[in-house]
Amino acid sequence: MSIHECSRYREVHARSVSDPEGFWGEAAREIDWIQAPTKVFDPSKGLYGRWFADGVVNTCYNALDRHVEGGRADQLALIHDSPVTGTVTKFTYRQLLDEVKAFAAVLADLGVGKGDRVIIYMPMVSEAVVAMLACARLGAVHSVVFGGFAAKELATRINDAKPKVILSASCGIEVSRIVPYKPLLDDAIALAAHQPESCVILQRPQLKADLINGRDHDWATLRAEAIAAGKSAPCTPVLATDPLYILYTSGTTGQPKGVVRDNGGYLVALKWTMENLYGVKPGEAWLCTSDIGWVVGHSYIVYGPLFHGATTIMYEGKPVATPDAGAFWRLVEDYKAVALFTAPTAFRAIRKEDPEGAFIKKYDISTLRTLFLAGERADPPTVEWAEQQLKLPVIDHWWQTETGWCIAGNPVGLGLLPVKHGSPTVPMPGYQLEVVDEAAKPVPAGTMGSIVIKLPLPPGCLPTLWEQDERCRESYFADYPGYYKTSDAGYMDEDGYVFVMGRTDDIINVAGHRLSTGGMEEILASHPDVAECAVLGVADPIKGEVPCGFLVLKSGVTRDHAEIEKEVVKLVRDKLGPVAAFKLAVTVGRLPKTRSGKILRGTMKKIADGEAWSMPATIEDPNALEEISVALKSHH
Ligand code: COA
Ligand code: AMP
Repeated sequence: MSIHECSRYREVHARSVSDPEGFWGEAAREIDWIQAPTKVFDPSKGLYGRWFADGVVNTCYNALDRHVEGGRADQLALIHDSPVTGTVTKFTYRQLLDEVKAFAAVLADLGVGKGDRVIIYMPMVSEAVVAMLACARLGAVHSVVFGGFAAKELATRINDAKPKVILSASCGIEVSRIVPYKPLLDDAIALAAHQPESCVILQRPQLKADLINGRDHDWATLRAEAIAAGKSAPCTPVLATDPLYILYTSGTTGQPKGVVRDNGGYLVALKWTMENLYGVKPGEAWLCTSDIGWVVGHSYIVYGPLFHGATTIMYEGKPVATPDAGAFWRLVEDYKAVALFTAPTAFRAIRKEDPEGAFIKKYDISTLRTLFLAGERADPPTVEWAEQQLKLPVIDHWWQTETGWCIAGNPVGLGLLPVKHGSPTVPMPGYQLEVVDEAAKPVPAGTMGSIVIKLPLPPGCLPTLWEQDERCRESYFADYPGYYKTSDAGYMDEDGYVFVMGRTDDIINVAGHRLSTGGMEEILASHPDVAECAVLGVADPIKGEVPCGFLVLKSGVTRDHAEIEKEVVKLVRDKLGPVAAFKLAVTVGRLPKTRSGKILRGTMKKIADGEAWSMPATIEDPNALEEISVALKSHH
C-alpha cells in the first residue's frame, strides 16, 4: 500500500465538505464551552454565515485554565528563549495563568472590558503573550502591531482600532542595534487622531524609556501591585462570534486591512490542526519562530499550542547571527521540540551560513519529527536542501492572515501524502479550492489562474474587516460571487495538489513579510521632487523578494539624483519601517507604459531580475525599457 492510501486525508476532507456541520460540530467537542452552540453554522448571519453563532466561550480559559484544572498545572506552557538578552524564562501552565490573571486585573483597573480594544506594540517578550491572553480573558480585543513598523503605520492602526489602552516596551533588540520602541509609540500617538486613555510600558534593562505623567504606567509596578493585592480577573463569557483580535495586514493601498478573528471558530479550527495537521500531541514541545506581530505568531506561537496543552517555545532571536546558524537546532535540543515551523527565508539564511549542515550535526535534534514552512512559497531548492540535511518530512503549507490557519497543507496527523516540491499539497478540511480564469470559469488541471475558495470559509477564517463590512465584501467576495478571492495565483494538478505561485495584486513578500508596493508608492510620491514612481518586488536570494523603486523626477529638478534616492529610501524606512527592506531607488527619465497608460510592471520586473524579456507590442516608447535596464546596471 502506498503512503497515499494510508492517509485518512481524502475521507476526512470529503466529510468536511459533504457534512460540514457534522465535521465541525465534532471538532467543537474538543473545546470547553460555557454554553455549547446549538447550531454549528448559521448561513443567515454575517457576510457568508457564521460558525457556532450562539456558543458562549472564553478563549483564555481554553488556553490556560482548563489545562491547570485538567492536570497540566506543572507542565511547561511557555519557554521564552532570548539569546539577544542572554535569558531563558519558563512558565508552567499554573504560572502563566497566574501572570495572566494578574495582568488582566491590571487592564480591568485601567477600564478595559469586553469589546474594548488594546494595541500591543511589543518585541518578542513573554509579557506580550501574557497581554494577549489577558485581553482574551476579559473579552477585550487585542491588536498586535509588529515592532518593525514605523510610527505612522502604528498611528494608522491606532486610528482604526481606537484602543482604550496601548501596551508597549522600552525597546526591542535586533542583531546590530537596540530599537527604542517608546519614541515610536509617542510619535504615533502624536500623529493619531484617536488618543488612548493609558499606556503600560515594559521597561527593559537594555534601554529605559521616559514615561509621560498621567498617561504612561510602569508595567512591573502595576503587575507587582496587582499581585500584592491578590487581584485576579475571572474569564468573561463571550459569544463565539465576538472578536478575539484584529490583525492588520497589507492591502493594496497604504490603508491596511483590519482582519477580524472571532473566538469560537478560531478555537475549534486551531485545536483541530495541532494533532491532525501538525501531528503534535498535548504535552509535547513545539517551536514556531515567527513573530507575534504576524498571523503565524498569533496562531502557532500563542493560541494553537496552548489550546492543545502543548509547550510553546518563544524565540527572541534570528535564525542566524544570534549567535550563529545553529540557533534553531540548539532550541530543538534544549527543549526537545518535536516540530519546527518557520519561513523558507529563514532556511535560505541558514543554508547560506551553513551549506554543509555542520551546525545541524552539532546538536541532538532526534526529537524533531517534521519541519513546516509557510509565509511565502517554499522554493524547491530550499526544500530539497532541508530534506537532505534533516532527513525528515519538510512540509510546505499555504495560508494568509485572513484565514488564520492553513488553507492547503500536508496533514501529518492524518497520514502524510506524498510531497511534491513546489506545492503546499492539498486543501485542508472546509476549504474547497478552485482555480478560475478572469470570467470566473474553472480552468483545466495544470493551467494557471486565480485561486478562489468556495463559501462558506471554514471556522477560524475572517468574518469581516474591523468596522468595514463593505470593504471586506468588495475586497474578497465581490469579484467571484459565492467565492472568497485569495489574490493568489497558481494551478492544481491532476492529483488535486495546489501550486501557489504568486499574488495577483500589488502585494510582495519580503522575507516572509507581506507588504504593499502601492503603499510604498504613496510614500515615494510624497517626496517633493518625485513626479511619478513605481515599486516592484525584485528577486533576492535570501529574502525571496525585495522592493525596488523607480522614480521620475519633476521637470526642473536639478538636484543630485543620488541624494534624492537616499532621501526616498529614508522616507520609506521612517514612514513604513525597516521591515520593508526598501534599499534600492533608481531614477529614470520616464516609466515604460502601454499606449493606454499602464505601467509595464511585468517587463520591468523581468529586466530587474535579469530574465529574458521581449518588447511588448503595446509599448508607448520603446526606449523607456532600455533606459530601465541601463539605470539598473549603473546601480548594481
Ligand atoms: N523591531 C524593529 N525592527 C525590526 C524588527 C522588529 N521587531 N524586525 C525586523 N526589524 C528590522 C531589522 O533590524 C532590519 O533592519 P535593518 O534594515 O536595519 O537591518 C529590517 O527590519 C529587516 O528585518 P528582517 O526582515 O528580519 O531582515 P534581516 O536582514 O535582519 O534578517 C532573515 C533576514 C531572513 C534572517 C529574517 O528576515 C527572518 O528571520 N525572517 C523570517 C521571517 C518570519 O519568520 N516571518 C513570519 C512568516 S511565517
Ligand atoms: P500573510 O497574510 O502575511 O500570511 O501572507 C499571505 C501571503 O503569503 C499569501 O497570500 C501568499 O501570497 C503568501 N504565502 C504564504 N504561504 C505561502 C506558501 N506556502 N506558498 C506560497 N505562498 C505563500
